[in-house]
Amino acid sequence: MANLPLKNKLALVTGGSGDIGAAIARRLAQAGAEVVVTYVGAKDSAEAVVHDIQQAGGQGHCRQLDQREPAAIESLMQDIEAHWQQLDILVNNAAWNIGIPFPNLDELTAELWDRVLETNLRGPFLLARAGAKLLQAGVGGHIVNISSAGGISPGSSSIAYSSSKAGLNHLTRCLAVAMAPKVAVNCIAPGLVENTRMAQRLPDNVAAGARRQAVLGLVGQADDIAEQTLTFVTSRSISGQTVVIDGGMPGVMR
Ligand SMILES: NC(=O)c1ccc[n+]([C@@H]2O[C@H](COP(=O)([O-])OP(=O)(O)OC[C@H]3O[C@@H](n4cnc5c(N)ncnc54)[C@H](OP(=O)(O)O)[C@@H]3O)[C@@H](O)[C@H]2O)c1
Repeated sequence: MANLPLKNKLALVTGGSGDIGAAIARRLAQAGAEVVVTYVGAKDSAEAVVHDIQQAGGQGHCRQLDQREPAAIESLMQDIEAHWQQLDILVNNAAWNIGIPFPNLDELTAELWDRVLETNLRGPFLLARAGAKLLQAGVGGHIVNISSAGGISPGSSSIAYSSSKAGLNHLTRCLAVAMAPKVAVNCIAPGLVENTRMAQRLPDNVAAGARRQAVLGLVGQADDIAEQTLTFVTSRSISGQTVVIDGGMPGVMR
C-alpha cells in the first residue's frame, strides 16, 4: 500500500449509494483514502459499495444522511469528529432531480423547488460549513462539488435542478475564497453520464441530443467523474474551478 496518494486521508462522499458517488468512493479508496459514503434510503447500495472497497483491501464505511435536514448534517460531522478526528476530503455529490420540461412552469411547485434547492445547493453549503473546522485543521483539505452542465447552460431535468447547479458552481467559487488557504474547493459539471439512473430520468430526446452533439462522439462515464475528483484532491494548485465533463461541447441539454 506504499505510494498511495491518499494514504491516511479521510474522505466523505455524499450520495455514495448512487451511481457516480459509488464510482468516486471506489476510486478514492483505491488511491488509499478511508471513505465514508452516505445514503438516504438505499442502504443496500451503500453497503455494497463499502463491501467492494473492503474486498479490494480498502477501508469503507456508510452512514445515513438526509441533507435536507441541517441537524442531520451537524450530527454526521460530530460523528466523524468523534470517530476519526479528521476530515480531508468532502465530495458533495448527492443530489435530487425530477423531470419537468422547462415550459411546464405550473408543474414546478414551490415544494418541488424547495426540495431540489435544499438538497442540491443548501446541503453542500451546510456540509462545507459543518466540516470546515476539520477540513481546515489538516495539511490541505479539499472539497469537490458535483454539479451539472445544466448549471452552465439552461437545460437538464428541470429549471429548479438547472438553477440549483448554477448556484453550486458559484458556491464553489465563494467557498474557494472563504476556505483559503487551507482548503481547495473545486467542481465537476457532468453532462449526460451514461448508465446512470439520473440520466434515465432525462427525456429521451435530451439524452439523444447530448450524445449526438458531443464532439468526441461519446459522453462521460461515472469513472470519468471519479478520475477528475482524484485529480482535484491530489492537486494543491487549483481552487475555485469547474470542469465540464460532457464529451465536448454538446450544446444545451433540452
Ligand atoms: N447521472 C447523470 O447523468 C448526471 C449528470 C449531471 C450531473 N450529475 C450529478 O452527479 C451527482 C450524482 O448523480 P448520480 O447519477 O449518481 O445520481 P443517483 O444515482 O440518483 O444518486 C443520487 C444520490 O444522492 C442521494 N440523495 C438524494 N437525495 C438526498 C438527500 N436529500 N440527502 C442526501 N442524499 C440524497 C441518493 O441517496 P439514495 O440512493 O439513498 O436515495 C443517492 O446516493 C449528482 O450531483 C447529479 O446531479 C449526474
